[in-house]
Amino acid sequence: MSRFLSPKLADLTPYTPGEQPQNRQYIKLNTNESPYPPAPGVAAALAAADAADLRLYSDPEAAKPRAAIAAYYGLKPENVFLGNGSDEVLAFAFQAFGRGRQMAFPDVTYAFYSVFAALFGIPTRVVPLTADFAIDPADYYRPGEQVVLANPNAITGLELPLTAIEGILQRHPDDMVIIDEAYVDFGGQSAAALLAEYPNLLVVQTLSKSRQLAGARVGLALGSPEVIADLNTVKFSFNPYNVNRLSLELAAAAVKDKAYFNACCAKIIADREFTAAGLKKLGFRVLPGKANFLLARHDKVSGEAYYKQLKERGILVRWFDEPRIRDFVRITIGSHAEMQALLDATAQILAE
Ligand SMILES: Cc1ncc(COP(=O)(O)O)c(C=O)c1O
Repeated sequence: MSRFLSPKLADLTPYTPGEQPQNRQYIKLNTNESPYPPAPGVAAALAAADAADLRLYSDPEAAKPRAAIAAYYGLKPENVFLGNGSDEVLAFAFQAFGRGRQMAFPDVTYAFYSVFAALFGIPTRVVPLTADFAIDPADYYRPGEQVVLANPNAITGLELPLTAIEGILQRHPDDMVIIDEAYVDFGGQSAAALLAEYPNLLVVQTLSKSRQLAGARVGLALGSPEVIADLNTVKFSFNPYNVNRLSLELAAAAVKDKAYFNACCAKIIADREFTAAGLKKLGFRVLPGKANFLLARHDKVSGEAYYKQLKERGILVRWFDEPRIRDFVRITIGSHAEMQALLDATAQILAE
């Protein structure tokens, strides 16, 4: 830290991203990326791109992908906001709806929520998950507070039914309820279906996971035109050209190919169930997750030891050194062959 850093940031602990090794080829099951390439239209859009166009700024309205996303959800482009990854969308939402107000979220969830709150000086109420790692909706029945929930929840993968989300929305008529659906396409139900009825709802999604574009950095929000206008107020006060020219094209192409999207999601779901069954057979406790990852623990090997031994064998998973989940590892669902390799390595580790 330099002596020039604002004292307000002196205590800020930044987010720690998962390892992105640049020097060794791993079976990479640690940051919930897709094992599959983006839709064929994405490669075509990339091939058609002209480097000379990069001298021009990108479209600040992001019209092309917003139209494609609106068509996909049966919404209007005014209902859609585009960001540089959903991390940026969430950061804008925290600034737009959280500043000067309290925000509530679970103790075990996406770590960026507490980082954004600290960065923007937003007071928080951190709500413990139940003993089974579930979200109890009644814990969020506190009008006057903004709510942010990942659904399925990050780290656990557990899903909250739409009826529970609706219950929270009904008790917060004058507060924003942000539902982060980074993992919804792997078997969850999107709260986008509730948008027409609840102007206090903001749905945040990403093209990083189910549309294979983590490296292009594209996230989105769905909400009422007024709420989307609020996000634009923050965006146009920060970085009007927040999504680059190439990514705008790639995002539009990815969203248009429904058949490829459905096929990739179906493969991930099938391999998630295959992996969960395999781990259970080896004696693991596996949370019944609906995401493209599983949270699992074994009585005979600590989360840290299992993570380290897998890494020695060339398989990267994620271990969180945090109180309630230290005994677990989070395993991203890769290809079928990768999941078979994980199960084989795990059997070896347990046999040693
Ligand atoms: C719950 C959740 N929300 C948002 C994100 C951010 O994704 P991105 O910025 O790649 O869109 C992640 C990434 O892992 C996540 O787990």
